[in-house]
Amino acid sequence: MTPDGSLLSAEGLHKTYGATPALDGADFSIHPGEVVAVMGPSGSGKSTLLHCLAGIIQPDSGTVRYGPHTLTGLTDVQRSALRRSDFGFVFQFGQLVPELTCLENVALPLRLNGVKRKDAERQARTWLERLEVETVGGQRPGEVSGGQGQRIAVARALATAPRVVFADEPTGALDSLNGERVMSLLTDAARDTNAAVVLVTHEARVAAYSDREIVVRDGRVKDMLAGLI
Ligand SMILES: Nc1ncnc2c1ncn2[C@@H]1O[C@H](COP(=O)(O)OP(=O)(O)OP(=O)(O)O)[C@@H](O)[C@H]1O
Ligand SMILES: [Mg+2]
Repeated sequence: MTPDGSLLSAEGLHKTYGATPALDGADFSIHPGEVVAVMGPSGSGKSTLLHCLAGIIQPDSGTVRYGPHTLTGLTDVQRSALRRSDFGFVFQFGQLVPELTCLENVALPLRLNGVKRKDAERQARTWLERLEVETVGGQRPGEVSGGQGQRIAVARALATAPRVVFADEPTGALDSLNGERVMSLLTDAARDTNAAVVLVTHEARVAAYSDREIVVRDGRVKDMLAGLI
């Protein structure tokens, strides 16, 4: 836990790309098992916030805390080890390794964490079943539909039992029916394993699967509820 009792929190994040401010004093916090939707206009800083929270990029200033760790004080190597062991990622597309089968893709993060091939593939198979894509385990990502591909990506993100799943527009390339199915499978699995989910989305329909919504505007976070009062 961080000092304020949350699992992951950020304070006063600033990040500038050249002359463009992407984050301008963003704050954030999430509890174990909580699903938080991050909404806001294009270019408002949602992905930059997610990347800072996940330790993929370092903010220019501000602090990110994860459990007992100050993420912003760790080295690149330490942050990447923490990402591998504690975080899962789902992006809009392009995250699966095209040369591997879908089953091997889901097993990959387990293999990277030192799990033996047979065990990794057995666990991967149960995740494929859970995400209702066990029939395409032997196919490569290029040979499955967009909806199936995203389910594989969700299975891969959850296979290592992450404490936080970071999802950036996970249903952005799907039709609404497939998008809703992927969201319900993702949030059910996360709630069952008490994983927190940071969910970036443009769509109210997708945000409806969250426990709480926040809005990013000009690199700052507004509480959805506070905005209405
Ligand atoms: N690698 C980068 N290099 C330069 N500028 C960047 C980079 N990444 C983001 N930006 C800029 O920072 C700002 C915030 O970008 P960000 O990707 O966080 O927005 P976003 O809210 O995720 O937008 P979208 O909804 O379109 O994905 C934008 O003005 C963007 O152009
Ligand atoms: Mg984005």
